[in-house]
Amino acid sequence: MSYVRHNIERMTPYVPGAQPPPGASVVKLNTNENPYPPSPRVAEALAGFEPAALRAYPDPTAGRLRNVAAEVLGVKPDWILPANGSDDAIMMIARAAGAPDREIAYATPTFTFYDTQARIEAAGPVEVPYGEDYALPVEALAAAGAAVTFVASPNSPSGTLAPTDQLAELAERSSGLLIVDEAYVDFADETALPLIERFENVVVLRTLSKGYSLAGLRVGFAVARPALLEQLAKTKQIYNVGALPAALAAAAMSDQAWKDANVAKVRAGRAELTNGLRQRGWRVWDSQANFLWTRPPEGNAAALHEALSARGILVRHFRGAGLDDKLRITVGTDEQNAVLLAALGDGRSKVEDRRAKS
Ligand SMILES: Cc1ncc(COP(=O)(O)O)c(C=O)c1O
Repeated sequence: MSYVRHNIERMTPYVPGAQPPPGASVVKLNTNENPYPPSPRVAEALAGFEPAALRAYPDPTAGRLRNVAAEVLGVKPDWILPANGSDDAIMMIARAAGAPDREIAYATPTFTFYDTQARIEAAGPVEVPYGEDYALPVEALAAAGAAVTFVASPNSPSGTLAPTDQLAELAERSSGLLIVDEAYVDFADETALPLIERFENVVVLRTLSKGYSLAGLRVGFAVARPALLEQLAKTKQIYNVGALPAALAAAAMSDQAWKDANVAKVRAGRAELTNGLRQRGWRVWDSQANFLWTRPPEGNAAALHEALSARGILVRHFRGAGLDDKLRITVGTDEQNAVLLAALGDGRSKVEDRRAKS
């Protein structure tokens, strides 16, 4: 007799990227954090936060944060469900809508936490492969007929965006929920947020972890019609956003100029790094996120991952079909990007070197 359900026993847990201790001397390009600091308003809010306020339970709806987020997103507050990071929103959705006869679908490769949640609920998963260009497989996802379809846009690890018209087509053809996970949208040219007005089955997920440089804070949102959010909220922890994260998140969101300036720096760094890698013969998919999906010229991603790691440069290598020969590289500061490119050498292949010498 097992102490836990069979599907829990059988599943493999989510594996987060390596997190060296704070202060470790590494160039950390492995977990898609923003390399620039959060708004100074966060530090001010932290300094001004009254510890006595922690005696009482927080507002279970994180109402003040919700109001600030509503203004930023241009929706009414009851269209927003605050969460303990977008992970928490993904969990709520899987709990509310996934079950053995209500499958969860997504295109792969993608954020593997969808797989984790689907397996916890024994709701499939149904996996549809992306092609080489990572274009959204609308036809196959619609045909899967799942109760929940997750689409990360921009997607991780590919960095590619699903155009809003394709997401609209998928929403229209789905009888279940379509969850558009916009964790990286702050770095993209396009958002699918307007779809929540057009479709009652669409949920858009947002987070403060990326654009706002607050991955450690754990604040995100589900954005959808109030009637749907009421159902999802039934599965939430009672107080899923603490008083301190709610206050700091509101402070960060009140400073759009700071976030926008950091995003502009990351986008510029993304272009530089893309060029630098392509000049060295790497294949780099056009990214709409704060990271690049890349294939080194010789496909020796695992060996490069180890070699870079030995030099204190952390990038992400995933194992599996279509993944083994690639690396996901977070865009760092200009200095970090330069360190990476320098570590990769001038990119001339050994053949070219031999030719140059002869
Ligand atoms: C596509 C995607 N969605 C959601 C998340 C989780 O973000 P959060 O920090 O808001 O839980 C990540 C984290 O890297 C991600 O890559």
